[in-house]
Amino acid sequence: MPRLELSEEEARPRLLCDSTELSEAGRAVVFDVMEWGRKVSAFALRFEGKVVAYVNRCVHVPVEMDWQPGEFLDSERRWIICSIHGASYDPRHGGCVGGPCGRGRLKPIRVAEADGQVHWYPSDDIRPVPAGLPNPPDSSAGPAG
Ligand code: FES
Repeated sequence: MPRLELSEEEARPRLLCDSTELSEAGRAVVFDVMEWGRKVSAFALRFEGKVVAYVNRCVHVPVEMDWQPGEFLDSERRWIICSIHGASYDPRHGGCVGGPCGRGRLKPIRVAEADGQVHWYPSDDIRPVPAGLPNPPDSSAGPAG
């Protein structure tokens, strides 16, 4: 797929939330991004004091992972866990630590926190959702059968 360089406007950081919305190992902030022109879900959470963000897509089967909206961590608040078959990921880097995700890794989104706000940064393949883009019909892949 051809890579299109980001324009200055496309590359500017986007406000995600206030820092106070992300408590330590708490509920994530879920947001939408465009990945290669397709709208996908992403999430940001705070772990060990640092905000991290990933595309909300399991490595095992490409489905959204939260077991309730914004709830990604296991009961011990230690791992990101996929609600479908229990793949577990290290929140610090998104690498698989157990379950059917093998050597996979969640796709990271760059974030930065400053002055009480969290911003995410577009990249070649992760971009903001254009204003006014309608929600597509639910075309997310279900679990493989
Ligand atoms: S879809 Fe996530 S563990 Fe299978």
